[in-house]
Amino acid sequence: MTKAEAKTRIERLKKEINHHRYLYHVLDTQEISDAAHDSLKNELARLEAKFPDLVTPDSPTQRVGGLVLPGFKKIRHRVPMLSLNDAFSASELADWEIRLKNFLAKSRSTDTKHEIPNTGYDYFAELKIDGFAVSLEYENGVFIRGSTRGDGRTGEDVTDNLRTIEAIPLRLQTPVDAERHDEARRILKKFPNVRRALSNLPSDMEIRGEVYITKRAFDEVNRAQDERGLPRFANPRNIAAGSIRQLDPKIAASRRLDFFCYGVATECGLETHEEEHAIARILGFKTAEPARVCKNLDEIIRFQEDIGKRRDALPFLIDGVVVQTNDRKTFRALGVAGKAPRGAIALKFPGAEATTVIEDIIIQIGRTGVLTPVAKLRPFEIGGVTVSRATLHNMDEIARLDVRVGDTVIVERAGDVIPHVVRVLKNLRPGRAKKFSMPRAFCGQPVMREKGMAAHRIADPARCALVRREQLYHFVSKYAFDISGLGPKIIDRLLDEHLIQDPADLFTLDEKEIRPLERFAEKSAANIIGAIRSKKNIALSRLIYALGIMHVGEETARDLAEYFKTPEELIRATEAELEALPNIGAVVAQSIVQWFRNAENARFIEKLKRAGVRIKQERAEERDQPLRGKNFVLTGALETMGRDEAKGRIRALGGKIAASVSRTTDYVVIGRDPGAKLENAKTLGIATITESEFLKMIAS
Ligand code: IVH
Repeated sequence: MTKAEAKTRIERLKKEINHHRYLYHVLDTQEISDAAHDSLKNELARLEAKFPDLVTPDSPTQRVGGLVLPGFKKIRHRVPMLSLNDAFSASELADWEIRLKNFLAKSRSTDTKHEIPNTGYDYFAELKIDGFAVSLEYENGVFIRGSTRGDGRTGEDVTDNLRTIEAIPLRLQTPVDAERHDEARRILKKFPNVRRALSNLPSDMEIRGEVYITKRAFDEVNRAQDERGLPRFANPRNIAAGSIRQLDPKIAASRRLDFFCYGVATECGLETHEEEHAIARILGFKTAEPARVCKNLDEIIRFQEDIGKRRDALPFLIDGVVVQTNDRKTFRALGVAGKAPRGAIALKFPGAEATTVIEDIIIQIGRTGVLTPVAKLRPFEIGGVTVSRATLHNMDEIARLDVRVGDTVIVERAGDVIPHVVRVLKNLRPGRAKKFSMPRAFCGQPVMREKGMAAHRIADPARCALVRREQLYHFVSKYAFDISGLGPKIIDRLLDEHLIQDPADLFTLDEKEIRPLERFAEKSAANIIGAIRSKKNIALSRLIYALGIMHVGEETARDLAEYFKTPEELIRATEAELEALPNIGAVVAQSIVQWFRNAENARFIEKLKRAGVRIKQERAEERDQPLRGKNFVLTGALETMGRDEAKGRIRALGGKIAASVSRTTDYVVIGRDPGAKLENAKTLGIATITESEFLKMIAS
């Protein structure tokens, strides 16, 4: 390949990779598989390695690595990064509106140029993301610098770390790129101002937003910290902040950070804040949903209440709602008071932190035999729920907090994250405060702590009745066998009455056996047996998860079920084979092999089989999907149907459609006037089919 050819190809690849980045990170959809995406990136990396002077800062290959710097450079923000004043109630919000109105009335009387709109104003309400504020600078569309808020005027240069975040475009999307997406077309139609602004965008653009980490990624990072014997992070915000301020960009890259844009600092002719969100999406950013225009305070309060109810279900943490005047001129006219703009306010959820007293520290044993110290708290209300326990995670955490029985502590409940102790108020420590130490034995077994591990555990969890109980709860839980009506109380009863010993016994339980039990009315006995029986045919991924193998969560279980089609295949798998799978490391592989090698576990699997538990196909319609797993690319116009119809037919039959040809493409369908994709198919040796061949394929 000549250098000129490489250059063209590199440009195309960059565009294509960015297109898929946008689909995945902003629109939450996927046209091509992760593997195909990786393969595009690999091709780009190979070309760039061959022609190093063709590497540009906006190349997706520039997201990882980078140099470890001795410290961060200081950056002065062109537009200051302000903070927000808080309101905690409807009445505080009403006070804010009164202040606004008064201020505007006063300003209008001296506003000879009639710059302050005289209309009543709408508000824009959006989620207040609990993360870490950053500013992103783009020069001629290319990401050149990113910085932390710092003191609001001067921040730190964290460009290399921000580059690792896939949700941050390295090159702003142009309207032409954006119009490939339905959503962008809709936005451009709805907001003519956005279209106008885009056609005349300043060469320097400054974007504001929040770096954050999802609740799920937070749990995973903490699990990884545990495995390495490192201290846990108290909350997702700490990870976001800590990772961005890490001098080694590889750490930022390993933390799976994400980004929401909430504002455009550069003046570019937009009239409302809503338009700022709209333009952000066209430029290739993600904005947090839901967000909306509110006509008055009632609508804002309703929005906040609604968000409050859905808060736990959101995949990321929020700590309130940000409200501002939607009209930008009004917002500017309101100006800044102290460090916060008058035109905006953070309407916070009440009581995310509260203080209470530690009454005791007890030990809880989990289904893998790990001992977790738990603080029993003097019951108190936080965010509308009564809390009486908080996890203390492990002994390192107890040492870090220096927490003792009798201490007064600050407890935080952030979204649905389990309440945790943030800090001990040492001045309030009573003389009789008692230090906690891990028991030497539990369940008749010695307690040990493996080298490098944060957790204490018992050696043979299967021999501990408490662990078996936990395993049973887990086995029937929502993402495992999902047996409704079979809560911990009933399981406890069944165990106590010796009707079951392990989960396999559930499937051979008889209605007659449980009917005599107190509180098991005939109807519920029948219901319970029915619920259990209905789950005898189970998806492999659920079964794997239900087994409660250490380090095998829901995601890993799904990955395993995708690769191994039967339990037998998984049982026979070697560590090397497991480790070769994506997302499975040495620790997990070893844990799986050990679990299946254990004779008792093997007997348990046999028992499940004898009890009638069978694996069902993950998808019933799989058999009717002749194109399942096949990747298609369409090029040129089809005579008999439109492109969308063709895509729909392929998808309905289980196939996937990609926008460009790669090594993972199975068929390229050639229509009239095919484009460069035909050439690419030939170069890569991918099968091309005519329209009539395609029609036969989808008719079968
Ligand atoms: S607007 C005028 N919108 O909250 C300041 N801020 O206390 C511009 N934050 O430092 C902030 N989500 O880090 C705004 N949707 C959102 C936000 C948001 C989170 C953070 C931001 C800021 C802090 C202000």
